[in-house]
Amino acid sequence: MHAMMAKQDANQISIERYRARAAGYDASAQYTMPLRERTIALLELRPGQVVLDVGAGTGLSYAPLRDGVGEQGLVMAFEQSPDMFEQARARVVRARWSNVWHCCTAAETVKLPQAADAVLFNYVHDISRTPAAVDNIMSQVKPGALIAVAGMKFFPWWTGPLNLLPWLKNRPYNAHPADLWHPWDLIARWCDGFERVSTQWGMGYIARGRRKSQEVTAR
Ligand SMILES: C[S@@+](CC[C@H](N)C(=O)[O-])C[C@H]1O[C@@H](n2cnc3c(N)ncnc32)[C@H](O)[C@@H]1O
Repeated sequence: MHAMMAKQDANQISIERYRARAAGYDASAQYTMPLRERTIALLELRPGQVVLDVGAGTGLSYAPLRDGVGEQGLVMAFEQSPDMFEQARARVVRARWSNVWHCCTAAETVKLPQAADAVLFNYVHDISRTPAAVDNIMSQVKPGALIAVAGMKFFPWWTGPLNLLPWLKNRPYNAHPADLWHPWDLIARWCDGFERVSTQWGMGYIARGRRKSQEVTAR
């Protein structure tokens, strides 16, 4: 019961934080577009595939994901913040994209219309640090699917006070700002061949793996 309350709080905290940030989100995310494109390239998308955008925010990844899967493919996405999702919804309407399925819901409970061939976790730290969210998503992904992840992490422990910087950068956005030592590990346990490189002078990471052929048992 206590854990359930804490989790509800984390979702609510995140929704409140993004209420204040949604309007300025696209402008603030512009400088990370090259990292986004680098992460999406790791998915090696092919025409006709079904790709999932986890915690899609305002839908900034929709266009490059659509480029990857083509008109015959499908982009699936979900986002729990109504304020962020409203921008994603408007983006799809404006562009008249017919091959984007998306909904405003939480990672812990989302039900996808199809199993995904590829999955993007782009800067979705609160989702990546929530076992129920990661397990719900990964159980709806095809075995062998490519999984690409990008986000922030701490510098090595011996850099000491330098880690105030990633913590401060995370705090306005995330409900788990101090959980930055191995932020990829819940996703990695669902993957074979998980490989990771550091970005942003060690304050970020990009990683990729393939969804294991079997379900991973609950922690
Ligand atoms: C830093 S933004 C990244 C958005 C998008 N992935 C991008 O690359 O622009 C993190 C997003 O995760 C969403 N989020 C956080 N926790 C969530 C959850 N449990 N379920 C669904 N979305 C969540 C937030 O509302 C926010 O829009």
